[in-house]
Amino acid sequence: MSDSAAASTERAPAATLEVKDSRTGKAYTLPVMEAGVEGDQSIGGMDLRQVKVSEGDFGLMSYDPAFMNTASCKSAITFIDGDKGILRYRGYPIEQLAENATFLEVAWLLRHGELPTQTEYDEWSHQITYHTYVHENIRKFLEGFRYDAHPMSMLCSSVAALSSFYPRAKNIFDEDERNISISRLLAKMPTLAAFCYRHIKGLPFIYPDNDLSYTENFLSMVARMSEPKYEANPVFTRALEILFILHADHEQNCSANAVRAVGSSHVDPFSAVTAGIAALYGPLHGGANEQVLRMITEIGDTKNIPAFIEGVKSGKGSRLMGFGHRVYKSFDPRAQIVKKLADDVFRQVGMDKDLEIALELERIALSDDYFRERKLYPNVDFYTGLIYRSMAFPTDFFTVLFAVARTAGWLAQWEEMLLDKEQKIARPRQIYIGKGERPYQSRLTERFPQSRKDAVSK
Ligand code: ACO
Repeated sequence: MSDSAAASTERAPAATLEVKDSRTGKAYTLPVMEAGVEGDQSIGGMDLRQVKVSEGDFGLMSYDPAFMNTASCKSAITFIDGDKGILRYRGYPIEQLAENATFLEVAWLLRHGELPTQTEYDEWSHQITYHTYVHENIRKFLEGFRYDAHPMSMLCSSVAALSSFYPRAKNIFDEDERNISISRLLAKMPTLAAFCYRHIKGLPFIYPDNDLSYTENFLSMVARMSEPKYEANPVFTRALEILFILHADHEQNCSANAVRAVGSSHVDPFSAVTAGIAALYGPLHGGANEQVLRMITEIGDTKNIPAFIEGVKSGKGSRLMGFGHRVYKSFDPRAQIVKKLADDVFRQVGMDKDLEIALELERIALSDDYFRERKLYPNVDFYTGLIYRSMAFPTDFFTVLFAVARTAGWLAQWEEMLLDKEQKIARPRQIYIGKGERPYQSRLTERFPQSRKDAVSK
């Protein structure tokens, strides 16, 4: 464990919580734990189980749909203060990493807790470059998808399929196996993503070019045509690098939670990451940047914005996509970096009507009481879609770009979960609200449909 992880381990109980059960009149003293550099305080969910009305009683549970106030783990990877708009990876502010680091440096940092030395970085970059190729059968597998398949479905299935190519990846408690699986996943994700893109476009697959950097190689596999060597636009390369860094991790979000939950069954990391991709696909998570573009297209013109906003506020229309966040309630620090990045990219490719609509939408929403009262601000996805589109990525490919970057965070979260002695298989409780016991009484008059009986008798 790194020093930063060690700094966040638990301290002795900070205080106690006195609880009196009005059902029995009994009083309980629950330890309040303090942990982490920010001194987060919590009570242990299992401590509630001693609160019972009778000996045979199961004990008190806490009810927290959507984990609104439940910490499912201790983590030393990413710190967010949603009220202050702070995001740090392993203690480093996201703004500094976005400005100065490379994506592979950040991927190393997320996993190991410290920035890599030059030797570590060279070896790491070499490993990732060396593993970019995928088995030819994966290519054939991708060719089986329809021309209009959503690239997230393709990516999700192909990462799941990769698991079958590396049966030794199941040895998750062998550090060497974990190392190689992590390198393979990070290395192959851009290749798979680019292959998905080329398949939809009906273009030949472009194999990795090991002379290029991570992001340049990805752009090459996406965009190269007949030229012998692809030369990426440096503004696009840097923009993609920054967007990858911004999306690399975001502590216990829906997809990281999915990776941890599925990984807690001790399945191989390819399968656990597949769960993350599936979670990210949803429009309330990684699918939001795609939805932002669709929303802007639907609005069509700045003159239609007031009516659209009224629809959002009345609840009759859709939500304002790219606005609001479960955690950030002042601003999303990533959105601020992305807005600046958008300026750089748009200076290259020029302003268009959609960008004008986005700017006006943001201006109106930020000055409207409905959004202000609910602390709804642009999130990272509000501008990323516009940047990706300026770089000529199709709309349904945006979430794939997110998935490539988030793989770094998923893997760091997965490994942290695996090595955490306090973790067990994720298995929440439920509050059963269904029927009580009742005797079975069939409502069928025939056990097999008549059509099937006719077929059998023929
Ligand atoms: N547009 C309009 N109203 C909204 C929006 C929105 N984008 N987001 C929240 N609200 C309103 C809700 O209707 C609710 O209003 P009410 O109190 O009058 O009922 C209030 O704000 C609180 O909303 P919740 O749904 O309770 O907030 P929650 O924290 O659960 O949701 C979420 C967060 C899912 C991100 C939400 O803000 C949303 O749907 N945003 C649009 C989708 C989006 O941009 N997602 C990307 C998130 S960032 C990421 O995943 C990388």
